[in-house]
Amino acid sequence: MQCNFKETMDKKTIENQINELRDFLNRCNYDYYVKNSPKISDYEFDIKLKELEKLEKENPEFFDPNSPSQRVGSDENQEFKQVKHKYSMLSLANTYSEGEIRDFDARIRKLLPEGEEFEYACELKFDGTSISLTYENGLLIRALTRGDGQKGDDVTNNVRTIKSVPLKLYGEGFPKEFEIRGEILMPHSSFEKLNQERTEIGEPLLANCRNAAAGALKTQNSAVAAKRGLDCYLYYLLMDNLPSDSHFENMKIARSWGFKVSENTVKAKNIDEIIAFINYWDKERYNLPYDIDGIVIKVDKISLRDTLGYTAKTPRWAIAYKFKAEEAAVKLLSIDYQVGRTGIITPVANLEPAHLAGTIVKRATLHNEDIIRSLDLHENDTVYIEKGGEIIPKITRVDLSKREEGSKPIEYITKCPVCGAQLVRNEGEAGHYCPNYNGCPPQITGKIIHFVTRKAMNINCGEATIEMLYNQGFIKNCADLYELKTSDIESLERFGKKSAENLIKSINDSKSVPFERVLYALGIRYVGEGSAKLLAGDFGNIDAMIAATEEQLSETHDIGEIIAKSVYSWLRKPENLEILNRLRAYGLQFQSVKTEKDENSSEKLSGKSLIVTGSFATPSRREELEKMVSQNGGKLQSSVNSKTDFIVAGEKPGASKIKKAEQLGTKIISEEEFLKMLE
Ligand code: IVH
Repeated sequence: MQCNFKETMDKKTIENQINELRDFLNRCNYDYYVKNSPKISDYEFDIKLKELEKLEKENPEFFDPNSPSQRVGSDENQEFKQVKHKYSMLSLANTYSEGEIRDFDARIRKLLPEGEEFEYACELKFDGTSISLTYENGLLIRALTRGDGQKGDDVTNNVRTIKSVPLKLYGEGFPKEFEIRGEILMPHSSFEKLNQERTEIGEPLLANCRNAAAGALKTQNSAVAAKRGLDCYLYYLLMDNLPSDSHFENMKIARSWGFKVSENTVKAKNIDEIIAFINYWDKERYNLPYDIDGIVIKVDKISLRDTLGYTAKTPRWAIAYKFKAEEAAVKLLSIDYQVGRTGIITPVANLEPAHLAGTIVKRATLHNEDIIRSLDLHENDTVYIEKGGEIIPKITRVDLSKREEGSKPIEYITKCPVCGAQLVRNEGEAGHYCPNYNGCPPQITGKIIHFVTRKAMNINCGEATIEMLYNQGFIKNCADLYELKTSDIESLERFGKKSAENLIKSINDSKSVPFERVLYALGIRYVGEGSAKLLAGDFGNIDAMIAATEEQLSETHDIGEIIAKSVYSWLRKPENLEILNRLRAYGLQFQSVKTEKDENSSEKLSGKSLIVTGSFATPSRREELEKMVSQNGGKLQSSVNSKTDFIVAGEKPGASKIKKAEQLGTKIISEEEFLKMLE
């Protein structure tokens, strides 16, 4: 009896400890992502988060989907359920003209009783994707996209990973249930990082922040969404009895509950103040860290909204003024064709320098041959350039009235501008490639530069040094780095004995970089950090990967056919194998180090292929079961096929997986049965 009492007490203490940590970490996220004023270091945050994760793992009964530990998302593939909106999700009437804003103001004044006093709230029009959040008892319970305005997709799991969205509200003033709407954005910094990563793995670049945000919000894997660096501004509170009759005040109150509400909203008394706000932000928008595409003007007094009413799709009490994209007409001077590390060719237009959106523009991206064709670009054309959120502007159209007589259409190159190899364009792809992967200079240096980067081998060496070493004939591939002598490096410009010795030391230190990062460093097309980790984890060493068939590679958990094909063909090329063998001889890691020398590992599942699907007692349980498959010598698959031996099914297993298993007669087992197999 006493023992039970003590256990209950201990559990209570643990629960309190967990709750305290959750509140503390929620507050830190709020300070960092909403207030922009962090109070603790990232390091301290990580320590506290690890503490919470440990307690939650040891005490699964206290699981909470709104715990800050859940912000990392899950690897489980999700399907988005369609859910009906409680209040339909309307859009806004749009205009590009100041005159129509004046008409809007006149219309409002006409619709309202004479002498009715009111103000407008002028807000930024965030250029992202709209979202509706529902809170119950201060907790986020649902996040829906707009969909068709009546029904939206349930993207709650992905939205939970956005650090500026409060999972638990502050204060006590909020009602039991309410909705709040806003915009999910991808800030410029996240967008650039994402495109940089895509360049590194040879993927086509995303066109703009809006598309990138919408794509991230709909990724099936919330752990991927969590890494996209999304942000969320809220601008519309919906509930039966709003706290104030002023929209501006309501949003201030929402801010006090923990929501990120723009500090740039102002109240305007008349049309002149509205126009001044528009003109200010038309220029100032370029200094924001995210995209806005206009200004939203709303009648501030909530009680007037019913009087003014709605059209079928839009409220009469608000309007959006959209900025005209700033454009300039400039002369096309020439086109450069850049060659990336994976051989992809990117055409870039050189332009007569022009002022655009606060900067001087000299270049514009053209992306690929199809874009050049659809613009019908000719030599010496005068073109219009436009700047959206992207750093490099794009060409939107040609001024045909200025086309020179007899000017020739731009002919896309057929040979690599650097090495002269015949370019190839794969079916279904927009880009051209130089296939001379091991002989084309920018591809060679590009690959070595990738090899040394921090996330790869972490060799302390800049791009310029790699280029010098290559140009002076010291290195032709990444394996040559390990043959370098201090005297070679000392002979380079700006190098002395000390800096040369440091570089040699850094090269030697890289020999202990773990296998998964070595795999990433090899620069195999489509193999990013994540897929390298999965491959290294599943195969354990490079020999097993070399021995694997293309099908076996694609059966690796979460590795699709495209990556498998790319890895398979890379490992078939004699020149690549030669580099691998040299790197191995220099002492680089080509074998995963079993971090847990655990008594839990065995060969009990050797030769067996398994899939884990559905949800289990805790969100991390699926991952744990998957780990057990690998630890016990089994092979994890991501889709069911004739080789699948067992499906370990939790609650709500993937419907298509079960259907396929039934067709193939694959054995479906429970978690208990699976654990029995390992006993
Ligand atoms: S209010 C019923 N305020 O613009 C009115 N919308 O083109 C609800 N948007 O669907 C919307 N910033 O996705 C409002 N400050 C803002 C906004 C905003 C961006 C988006 C929103 C809306 C679209 C209309």
